[in-house]
Amino acid sequence: MEKKIKSLQLEVEKKIKDLKSISDLNQLKSEYLGRKSVFNNFMKELKDVAKEDKPKIGQMINEAKQSIAKLFDIAKGTIEVKIVEKKLKSETVDVTLPGKSFNQGSKHLISQVIEEVEDIFIGLGYTVKEGPEVESDEYNFEMLNLPKNHPARDMQDSLYISEDRLLRTHTSPVQVRSLLENSKHEPMKIICPGKVYRKDDDDQTHSHQFVQIEALVVDEKASLADLKGTLLFLARKLFGEQREIRLRPSYFPFTEPSVEVDVSCYKCNGVGCSMCKGTGWIEILGAGMVNNNVLESAGYDSNKFQGFALGMGVERIAILKYGIDDIRAFYTNDLRFNKQF
Ligand code: DAH
Repeated sequence: MEKKIKSLQLEVEKKIKDLKSISDLNQLKSEYLGRKSVFNNFMKELKDVAKEDKPKIGQMINEAKQSIAKLFDIAKGTIEVKIVEKKLKSETVDVTLPGKSFNQGSKHLISQVIEEVEDIFIGLGYTVKEGPEVESDEYNFEMLNLPKNHPARDMQDSLYISEDRLLRTHTSPVQVRSLLENSKHEPMKIICPGKVYRKDDDDQTHSHQFVQIEALVVDEKASLADLKGTLLFLARKLFGEQREIRLRPSYFPFTEPSVEVDVSCYKCNGVGCSMCKGTGWIEILGAGMVNNNVLESAGYDSNKFQGFALGMGVERIAILKYGIDDIRAFYTNDLRFNKQF
């Protein structure tokens, strides 16, 4: 019996050394130390052992069991350490590898120019207003002193939705809306950026949709001199502090007098170059004193109130500032174009 115990102990010690997983270990443990295990059977066989040998053999069996149990514990610890090591190795992050690149968006040039103009006007105390892109014929034309059959309506080929609704052809209807809203006739300084639509075929210089910014000032003393000062300030902020402006008489039904505003060429400083077609001046926007008819139809007493307005094309400003040669570039979403700004 002693021999049997010894050899079994050696056998199990060898097996423990080869263990690779916790489940194999648990199985082996129950095989050798469990209730129906070989070592437990020894205990049963003990009853056949001679009386005087019983204590010795019994002790031997217990010692063997204890030593094996200890070996199992050690083996368990070793296997667990190995598992953790393996896991750490497989999950190692190589911090020297290049990271995943992702595209960061940026503001479209048109949005940038809108914000630039907004900032200039906000600095002068204006507030930003918006109006709907689907507008009534009344606000888009009639109340801006453009009655039905007025010849000036031919200037704007319009996209009508119904007989009296259209996609606004300019941001000027926001003038009407703002005047009507201001029922107490408090002094008002607003700008309105927004999309406008014309029935144009798209080409290098035309787009059926583009962006305008309208400005309107109405109070009891707004003058042409104020308009001129505002225009000079705007031109210098947009095109450089050395710029001068020139006002040319023009015609818009909603302003009287009306002017076309030129800025001195920022490329040749007014000497004359290909940019300004040799004239030294570049046209940037339209403006004027608000027509009395516009004030009156919005319920203002034109003997008491006066105002000035201006309207500019954002694409035109961006084209001039950044030397872009095709208006369609703003709308075709070519990232090579968009990323330049
Ligand atoms: N609404 C005009 C257009 O679309 C631009 C314009 C000119 C607006 C003169 C104004 C203005 O407010 O005073 O061509």
